[in-house]
Amino acid sequence: MWKHLPLLLSVASSALASPSLVRRQENATTIPSVVERGINTECKKCPFSLCPNVEAYGGGDNVTLECWASGTNVNGDVTWLRTTTGCYITQWDLIEYQGDYTQALPHCGDIAEVYKKTHGKTKYYTECNIYPAIRGDHIKMYKYGIDLVLTCYTDDAEPWYKTTSNCYVSSTLLELVQGKDEIEPCGPVPFMEKKMREPDPEPEVQAKAPSFPKSDPAPTSHLARRFLYDTAVGEDEAHCYQENNNSSAIVKTYVWDEKVTPQCGTYLEGADRRTENIMLFTIDFCYVMDKLLDPNLVDSVVRSQYFPHCEDFVDEK
Ligand SMILES: *[C@@H]1O[C@H](CO)[C@@H](O)[C@H](O)[C@H]1NC(C)=O
Ligand SMILES: *[C@@H]1O[C@H](CO)[C@@H](O)[C@H](O)[C@H]1NC(C)=O
Ligand SMILES: *[C@@H]1O[C@H](CO)[C@@H](O)[C@H](O)[C@H]1NC(C)=O
Ligand SMILES: *[C@@H]1O[C@H](CO)[C@@H](O)[C@H](O)[C@H]1NC(C)=O
Repeated sequence: MWKHLPLLLSVASSALASPSLVRRQENATTIPSVVERGINTECKKCPFSLCPNVEAYGGGDNVTLECWASGTNVNGDVTWLRTTTGCYITQWDLIEYQGDYTQALPHCGDIAEVYKKTHGKTKYYTECNIYPAIRGDHIKMYKYGIDLVLTCYTDDAEPWYKTTSNCYVSSTLLELVQGKDEIEPCGPVPFMEKKMREPDPEPEVQAKAPSFPKSDPAPTSHLARRFLYDTAVGEDEAHCYQENNNSSAIVKTYVWDEKVTPQCGTYLEGADRRTENIMLFTIDFCYVMDKLLDPNLVDSVVRSQYFPHCEDFVDEK
């Protein structure tokens, strides 16, 4: 069954406590703290979400804080702390402090938001994920032909780029990025999920790296890096239509055994949402019936679970 990704909307009240009654600690030079359970977090060059990462921490990791600074608002909290390793972590991701860091620790000074930028453009429908992998939660679903500002790249042969929406796009879905040399590596990236950045009064269970269904050998293949996959025509020919409607104009006709590379899937317009009505939007920017191809979309468990629906790509910035 080709599943829709669930839309999770969590509404929860802020768990921030007021520290107003706590006495100023005298002459503290450093304060030990611990990363909140269930949270993975990034320790950054400057106290803003788009600053490059210096270190990645998991829940329960110990940190030593030496000063505070104002930075990106994370769930209503603009306080970031510099650790003794010289990077900045949001107060939101630390266990609650029975005091006020802005009183107990020196001010680090006004720290500027500094990160590099270059230009990118989506070539195909492009998911922008909180974490640089196809199974990362989606922050944006870009249409094709969209101009993006890229801020850093991951250390992969086919890198992921972080956009100014603080999510990662795969280079395989972009026009060639001319200005890669103008930006920096993103640094270590911990496994992230949307819920780690949402207000939640209950500590989450310890986050685990997600696992793929056991039956699929694909996680180590290129599918772990991008969603374009190669299939071929299994019939004499397969028309590729302008719309997801097999009465619309024929844009091109693939012949037997010709390679077809889908970007996303949808269902034949007006038809039941059944496997035999799946239409795939290819890198030729037209729709072909999945049932005429071999292998089919649902022949892979990973594709069945994660291949994107064309309707989901709505973002233009
Ligand atoms: C705290 O720091 C101030 C200024 O640096 C200093 O004069 C004072 O002696 C310190 N107090 C203690 C208890 O160390
Ligand atoms: C953090 O420090 C505590 C106390 O020293 C220790 O028990 C714990 O194992 C440390 N946690 C990690 C992840 O190193
Ligand atoms: C269009 O798709 C429907 C449903 O699968 C099918 O019954 C019909 O024969 C198709 N028409 C063409 C021209 O392929
Ligand atoms: C499919 O396209 C044809 C021709 O453009 C149109 O008449 C028909 O209404 C469309 N079908 C659906 C379900 O939109």
